[in-house]
Amino acid sequence: MSAARTKSSASGSEFARADRAAKFILAKTKLRPKIALVLGSGLGAFADELQDATRIPYEKIPAFPRSTAMGHAGRLVIGKVENIAVAAMQGRVHFYEGYTAQQVAFPMRVLGRLGIRSAILTNAAGGINTKYNQGVLVIISDHINLQGINPLIGPNDDRFGPRFPDMTQAYWKPYREIALAEAKRLGSAAPEGVYAALAGPNYETPAEIRYLRTIGADLVGMSTVPETIAARHMGIRVLGISCVTNMAAGILDQVLDHKEVMETGERVKGQFIALLRAVLPRIAADSK
Ligand code: HPA
Repeated sequence: MSAARTKSSASGSEFARADRAAKFILAKTKLRPKIALVLGSGLGAFADELQDATRIPYEKIPAFPRSTAMGHAGRLVIGKVENIAVAAMQGRVHFYEGYTAQQVAFPMRVLGRLGIRSAILTNAAGGINTKYNQGVLVIISDHINLQGINPLIGPNDDRFGPRFPDMTQAYWKPYREIALAEAKRLGSAAPEGVYAALAGPNYETPAEIRYLRTIGADLVGMSTVPETIAARHMGIRVLGISCVTNMAAGILDQVLDHKEVMETGERVKGQFIALLRAVLPRIAADSK
């Protein structure tokens, strides 16, 4: 990247940068999506199925962070599913990659400036609740932010939203109900659960998992929460879905590794895509 490009894309307020990135994206497609999808580790396959797709690598988008995590493609795909326009992020960036909270949330800011009203955030998570099994999809009912960071720290830009945004419905109740009903209809009833976000990148210790269970967490992961916070700040309604790629540390007599996370994601991909397809039209009806 040239010095001039770095300077121009990095200059101005977060709002101005998000606006610039949104304009760049809108100039590349005629579609005007109101729904965004953030596809986590191993779950990016859904974006490959979009029709009339425009694919934009993150590095081409002004001021956009690049994703470095394994299993994350790193591009924005704007296309249609069942005639519904969506903006799908194939991969995201994480705090553990060295980005600031604001950088992690920046793509959500851009999506907001693009006109997105609803976001479906997906992730791979460790299962803390012992009723869960590996491979189950869980509808996120709420979260606990233990990352020690927050994308809203710093001067508030009222053009995005209020200084002290409400988080009582971080995950929009009607969307949760839609997802629960559709999962049931598809014959793979999904439980609800509370997602605890840690900074990572190491997996947790068994003692940390016992602590997380005590404070009410059912799932643990290293993403989603900064994006949810930025989305709610902008009034975007959020649906969160986790894939339990592994039982959390200390539950089973085995070590955790990223390969297992990827393999489980791969195994339940079809089920995940079926749920997204079922949920999207009902959310689209709500986000006009
Ligand atoms: N812990 C944290 N993040 C994760 C896990 C886990 O066990 N599995 C997938 N992402």
